[in-house]
Amino acid sequence: TFFRSLHKNYFCFRRKIASKTVAAKIQLSAKKEAKDERKSFSTLQEERREQAERSVLISCPPNISETKFLKHMSRHGNINNCFFYESFGIYAVVEFSEKESIASLREATSIPSIQHETAVPFKTRLLSVKANNFSLPSSQPSVQCLKQTPIGIKELILKLSREDSIDQQLYSLMEEYQLTEENICLRFLVCSLLKDIAAAYFPECIIRPFGSSVNGFGKLGCDLDMFLDLDAISGRNIKQAGGGLSLEYQLKKTASERAATQSILSVIGECVDQFGPGCVGVQKILNARCPLVRFAHQPSGFQCDLTANNRVAMKSSELLYLYGGLDKRVRAMVLSLRCWARTHGLTSTIPGAWLTNFSLTAMVIFFLQRRSPAVLPTLDQLRDLAGPGDKCTIEGNDCTFVSDFSWMQDQKNTETLEHLLQEFFVFYGNFAFSRMSVNIRKGKEQNKPDTFPLHIQNPFEPSLNVSKNVNATQLERLVTLCQESAWLLQEGGASGRGPARDSPWGMAALLLPSLSQSVRTKGRKRKAREPASERIKSLLDSLKSGKNGSSAKPH
Ligand code: GTP
Ligand code: MG
Repeated sequence: TFFRSLHKNYFCFRRKIASKTVAAKIQLSAKKEAKDERKSFSTLQEERREQAERSVLISCPPNISETKFLKHMSRHGNINNCFFYESFGIYAVVEFSEKESIASLREATSIPSIQHETAVPFKTRLLSVKANNFSLPSSQPSVQCLKQTPIGIKELILKLSREDSIDQQLYSLMEEYQLTEENICLRFLVCSLLKDIAAAYFPECIIRPFGSSVNGFGKLGCDLDMFLDLDAISGRNIKQAGGGLSLEYQLKKTASERAATQSILSVIGECVDQFGPGCVGVQKILNARCPLVRFAHQPSGFQCDLTANNRVAMKSSELLYLYGGLDKRVRAMVLSLRCWARTHGLTSTIPGAWLTNFSLTAMVIFFLQRRSPAVLPTLDQLRDLAGPGDKCTIEGNDCTFVSDFSWMQDQKNTETLEHLLQEFFVFYGNFAFSRMSVNIRKGKEQNKPDTFPLHIQNPFEPSLNVSKNVNATQLERLVTLCQESAWLLQEGGASGRGPARDSPWGMAALLLPSLSQSVRTKGRKRKAREPASERIKSLLDSLKSGKNGSSAKPH
């Protein structure tokens, strides 16, 4: 319940717009953002990580004066950017131009004297403003915070209904749902703050965000998946010194790599729990296929999953980022379909037999590879485009693919989003799931190697099925929802706008609860018939067994 209420919490952000210079800076950063779309994944991640190292997170009193606050902070150096948001109070993210400013700020920051409790003196870059003279009289408006959660579904449906085309609806949904620049900065900052904690054990470690925080398909409010990267420590090969002698560290041995990951996550999880300010509800889930530490980071409002030794997931995030950057229709389509799937309960925040966002995204990519001409290249084609620096093998699996966008040519496929959406539903409404597997490496259906209802080959671990968890009921719901959605779009199409300006049409109509309700009712009717036929079968059985004295099984 706590996590749920945390998610529901109202967060606000606001970019500082205090002067013309800042406004100009924002224009510059908007241009930068457009360029960022084409930056390679590792370049962008590295830039953001470095930016986070120069940033601090500060809890502020409710009626803080922005001017006084910024004036005070700039005593420690030039401020590149600053924004405010709300999460159990007001917080400011302050990014300095130089890392040295952080040292200066730390010097001037004191340990609070707590009267009735004791606090662990563990110093991090999560600070609080205490002085009263920073505050304005309560009658004056305080800092402005930008709202940070996406608009509610009802509001979204209304907004989409007012758009002029289905293409516009999908782009509009993307604009509303996608992560903002500030939200991404905050995600990197939380990783950086946690790195400071993990650094108590592993000084050279890096904590990197992965999954939807960085793959371009994240929705505001999505979880923060993190990966504790120790490669900079363990992977280092120091050149042999002269004289034929070399030194190496003595290390404690563990039974397996998994056992090492578990013990590392166990101690770091303990440290986050005991000493990490703002980290609450820490759960160590060490026996999962991929061991993790889960907790809520209260000051940011993020639900966090910290993993270690998870390089393949990092590579999958990079691949999705690349696919999302190849054509502007991809992100709009994936975000819209993620929203559609969530609205109709095809995906869930609770683990179970549901489709995951990762599997759904692979399905969209596969569909776009199957168009003629293709919207997206296959993973094998991306591998063939790779340069020497892109070569990557993880646990014996080839994870090589091109990392930059320089090879891109003009898109041959010019289908509208409306058409692609319609075709997506037709494609999966008729897909031979019982025989065929979705394979983005080949970009072609393959024969299913197992009997799981849905088979989506893991792009980097070909023997694994990423949708092994999906049961027959959930797959059936997906197919029925695709069929219903295809039908609805066909009925309405671009001219499907209702007579009233606000009546839901196109993508908005696909998000109405009535769609999944009608699918549910069909399912119930089918189920309601089942016990009856079962009853008849068992009646026949009992008759047979009465006659023959044997208990024959129903056919
Ligand atoms: P959200 O639902 O918005 O959190 O999307 P997400 O893409 O972040 O998914 P999730 O948090 O479930 O997983 C994080 C990342 O782990 C994904 O982006 C993938 O890179 C990876 N991942 C998730 N599920 C699987 C899986 O079943 N197999 C493999 N190989 N990787 C997975
Ligand atoms: Mg995630």
